[in-house]
Amino acid sequence: MDMRALVVDPEVPGSLRLGTTAEPHPAPDQLVLEVRHISLNRGEVAFAGHRPPGTVHGYDAAGVVVGAAADGTGPAVGTRVAAFGTGAWAQRMAVDTTAVAEVPAKVDLADAAALPMAGITALRTLRSRSILGRRVLITGAAGGVGRYAVQLAALGGAHVIASVGSAARGEGLTELGADEVRVGLEGIDRPVDLILDTVGGRQLTAAWQLLAPGGDVQSIGWASDEPAMFAPHSLFSLGPAKTISTFGDTHEVGPDLATLLEFVAAGRLSPEVDWRGSWERVTEAARALLDRRIAGKAVLNVEPAAAG
Ligand SMILES: NC(=O)c1ccc[n+]([C@@H]2O[C@H](COP(=O)([O-])OP(=O)(O)OC[C@H]3O[C@@H](n4cnc5c(N)ncnc54)[C@H](OP(=O)(O)O)[C@@H]3O)[C@@H](O)[C@H]2O)c1
Repeated sequence: MDMRALVVDPEVPGSLRLGTTAEPHPAPDQLVLEVRHISLNRGEVAFAGHRPPGTVHGYDAAGVVVGAAADGTGPAVGTRVAAFGTGAWAQRMAVDTTAVAEVPAKVDLADAAALPMAGITALRTLRSRSILGRRVLITGAAGGVGRYAVQLAALGGAHVIASVGSAARGEGLTELGADEVRVGLEGIDRPVDLILDTVGGRQLTAAWQLLAPGGDVQSIGWASDEPAMFAPHSLFSLGPAKTISTFGDTHEVGPDLATLLEFVAAGRLSPEVDWRGSWERVTEAARALLDRRIAGKAVLNVEPAAAG
């Protein structure tokens, strides 16, 4: 039997369309989720066209367990969960029980679907250093990862500097916990201890100059798509080493996802869902995301049959 899914099709605008695919076949340590909501991330939208045609795309989902894992791990049938895994943009997905978390009753499933990729990335990169009382610069702060990072850095006791592309994109970030909102890196006059960089390019090399001795750049993403050129000798630094670290740690995200959901349930983390609509509108949502018109996350509702 086939189910509906968002599949890769290089022939359509945005390279994603609703199609059909086979039902998932769970491994013994995987449960089957009936997906109710999914969220989009810049990386998977931008690179959809690079995947083989027909691939079921996406990583972020929330829904209800319809098949428990054969090995006895994970939540029971009927449990509401958020999930991170491949093939998420479908009516049903098979997902590792270590990559799901139960959604507290207070939390809307659509909000839960916004969290996995962006929330885990923000949480894990901020945990790379002790941030209490430290100066933390977050680039691309208006985006999906950025808006979670601003909130979590503030929760962790950092002095939060949010960097955005324009004054308009900075709206709402002070309310989320930013101590300073800067357009680009204008006006940042003291060194910073940790940089979460989602922009790359020229801004990354400029941000490097702001890093204090012993500081670290967590290079999360490269939304700018432009090269970064370091001036000769600019990586030399007296004192404790300055570092640039890569990030791509998606191992066993379940417990961290549970932490994010608890923060949402307690009113300490806003899911920042700025765009919500049917998955029939995936092309429109993906375009808005790539055009920097979404402040935070785009969440799509998974619908079983074509409207009308
Ligand atoms: N390493 C990992 O595991 C991991 C995980 C998640 C995301 N990522 C990567 O991190 C980056 C951000 O992801 P996201 O989901 O937060 O994306 P997003 O919601 O689209 O946010 C991207 C932000 O980048 C800023 N930006 C600056 N220059 C840009 C340019 N030339 N083109 C487009 N955006 C520009 C935008 O700022 P303004 O809105 O202020 O204009 C926007 O807010 C992406 O590259 C993504 O692939 C990596």
